[in-house]
Amino acid sequence: MSQLPLTGIKVIDFTGVQAGPACTQMMAWFGADVLKVERVNGGDVTRHQLRDIPDVDALYFTMLNSNKRSLAIDTKTPEGEEIMEKLIQDADVLVENMAPGALDRMGLGWEHLHKLNPRLIFGSVKGFNDDSPWSDLKVYENVAQCAGGAASTTGFWDGPPTVSAAALGDSNSGMHLLIGILTALLDRERTGRGQRVSVSMQDAVLNLCRVKLRDQQRLERVGYLEEYPQYPNGTFTDVVPRGGNAGGGGQPGWVLKCKGWEEDPNAYIYFTIQEQDWGPTCQALGKPEWIDDPAYSTAQARQPHIFDIFAEIERWLADKTKYEAVDILREYGVPCAPVLSMKEIAYDPALRSSGSVVEVEHKERGTYLTVGSPIKFTGFTPTITGSPLLGEHTDEVLASLRYSEEEITALHEKKVVVSHD
Ligand code: COA
Repeated sequence: MSQLPLTGIKVIDFTGVQAGPACTQMMAWFGADVLKVERVNGGDVTRHQLRDIPDVDALYFTMLNSNKRSLAIDTKTPEGEEIMEKLIQDADVLVENMAPGALDRMGLGWEHLHKLNPRLIFGSVKGFNDDSPWSDLKVYENVAQCAGGAASTTGFWDGPPTVSAAALGDSNSGMHLLIGILTALLDRERTGRGQRVSVSMQDAVLNLCRVKLRDQQRLERVGYLEEYPQYPNGTFTDVVPRGGNAGGGGQPGWVLKCKGWEEDPNAYIYFTIQEQDWGPTCQALGKPEWIDDPAYSTAQARQPHIFDIFAEIERWLADKTKYEAVDILREYGVPCAPVLSMKEIAYDPALRSSGSVVEVEHKERGTYLTVGSPIKFTGFTPTITGSPLLGEHTDEVLASLRYSEEEITALHEKKVVVSHD
């Protein structure tokens, strides 16, 4: 494909940390011209957070800002605000995820920008939605996981609420926002008008926790949840408990030890007992006698002693590595996978060849690994490039807005803008 699908879409990326940048990065992968607007003193905070090389942009930044350009500008100065307004007049989308009220305080709130450019789509991430009593709170990932129902339902019953390593609050909110922005772009084709699209991190987490809201209602109706480890021998209260590694649907499953688990913390597989494939599952495990045994043959009969069954399967797994076990089980249609460490993922040749993990070049750090597009298209393959240096494109952006060389120099002298030298 000579032109990527979002070619020609101009995005002002007024975002920071992870939620907003994840959204705009994907727009850039798909062809949009994404201009990251950053503070003159240091830019996005993630450029400096958890650095692994002194004075070089941290991986936290580089992995969320590929394929973008960078403009470093003090938008709180009159000159900076004027530049922003010029950019906005010509933009299709502005994305921001600043603290509640920050854009209004800067004079760049939705009402004003909508008047300035009625076609503009204004995408926003906040911790809580506008109707929430907590809408004024600043929010980071784990705060959202706690407010969205993920933490209270994750972990083991005898431990505290637990957050997931997956960025359910941050990148997930960014992906929700992206869906909203693309929808608004399609709507604009019809109406000619832009709109404000907002996603709260609490709502985005909740959207992924919908099965737990399902369980709350089941619990209130029947008093128990048969797929949870607490059933039938434990106790339930009136809230959805933490279910450890139990499967969230009607197919029971658990993380099971494989050969070498004593030394390797990831020598495990996830094993699922799929009701309709119980026969082949028993064959795979060398337990054909379980197929018709009334104590094993139905899900209901298995549930009271499901952990004895898992212990039996672990005995079968004891002399097999996680990869060997999966190779056997796949032949019998058992839904399963090895538990993969980040090291295994980083060096996985299949993830590399599919473009899900890519090695890209950065001007100051050399090559580094980042995630590629998890969405595959028949029409095109996104090319992932390195992230920009702070202010790398400042002068080119100002020139495109028809600022003269003298004016650009004056803006530098007044510290309204910064370029990377
Ligand atoms: N020039 C001048 N000022 C700028 C600027 C620029 N280019 N870019 C940002 N600023 C200012 C903002 O206007 C704000 O000023 P104010 O506080 O005087 O109004 C200030 O920098 C800080 O902005 P912010 O990015 O919001 O940082 P923060 O440290 O106060 O809060 C968060 C960080 C993430 C907690 C907060 O932005 C937030 O809750 N965002 C919404 C939810 C979210 O996305 N969370 C993060 C998920 S990864």
